[in-house]
Amino acid sequence: MWPQVPQALRLLPEQASTVAGQVDALFLFLVAVTVFFSGLIFLLVVVFALKYRRRSDADRPRAIHGSLLLEALWTVIPLGIALAIFVWGTYLYFVISRPPAAAMEVYVVGKQWMWKLQHPTGQREINELHVPVHRPVKLTMTSEDVIHSFYVPAFRVKADVVPGKYTSVWFEATKTGEYHLFCAEYCGTSHAVMGGRIVVMEPAEYERWLAGGVGEESLPAAGEKLFGRLGCHTCHRSDGSGRGPSLVGKFGRTEKLTSGETIAVDESYLRESILNPQAKITVGYPPIMPTFKGLVTEDQLVQLLAYLKSLKTDGQAKP
Ligand code: CUA
Repeated sequence: MWPQVPQALRLLPEQASTVAGQVDALFLFLVAVTVFFSGLIFLLVVVFALKYRRRSDADRPRAIHGSLLLEALWTVIPLGIALAIFVWGTYLYFVISRPPAAAMEVYVVGKQWMWKLQHPTGQREINELHVPVHRPVKLTMTSEDVIHSFYVPAFRVKADVVPGKYTSVWFEATKTGEYHLFCAEYCGTSHAVMGGRIVVMEPAEYERWLAGGVGEESLPAAGEKLFGRLGCHTCHRSDGSGRGPSLVGKFGRTEKLTSGETIAVDESYLRESILNPQAKITVGYPPIMPTFKGLVTEDQLVQLLAYLKSLKTDGQAKP
């Protein structure tokens, strides 16, 4: 949007994602509407002060008893503008909050005061995220302690990172390069330095970078090990003969609960079921699962989730 303006004079950060231009367009529209009406009001204050000033002691203005046209106009025009902003903003909100199905998934754990990131292939990074250009990236995020906020100005992407639940956000970078990452929610002493960078690379270069991470286990593989080590597999048998439900193909399905509700099996539900198993019990199973609170870290939860998500029903599942 600002091609020829030198960096130092730019009012907005660089645009480096597919939504950046759309966010800026809406922002500039809001600014334009605000400036136009503020200017109009200031102008009219001055004009009317001069036009209707009292010219002599005998000056008596003619009384006005309302104007239907005027009232209709100042109702319809602001309503139209407000609705346009609402529809536009809602549309953009949905675009930003719905990751494309093919998005590559990265897990983010915020912690006082650093960002921990894990790639599906197992690479871990701290305060740095390497991603390929022109590929949608979905971030699934949680916090180990307090509320943080994942903010990449060049992508026009910002989302709170909240302890005890997963939030997500996505972006598709359109330019290679390095972009600032900030924490945008005050989270204690070192909030100001809780940041890092997003490194956007050519796909081939990204593959090379991935290959450089030696000896890292993929997330599902690490999760599978953990699943065994914690003894999850003794109850959650893949053939369904265990005391707990089989978890194969569970992710993305809906589940009937003993409370009569149905619930979509997503990251947040699985997480809750691991940490607070009694909260939502699947119909047909006794509430006997112990909590794993304190036994698994946020990083390990992410690995377990990646493993559970990898358990497809199409026969690729490992027993
Ligand atoms: Cu984390 Cu501010």
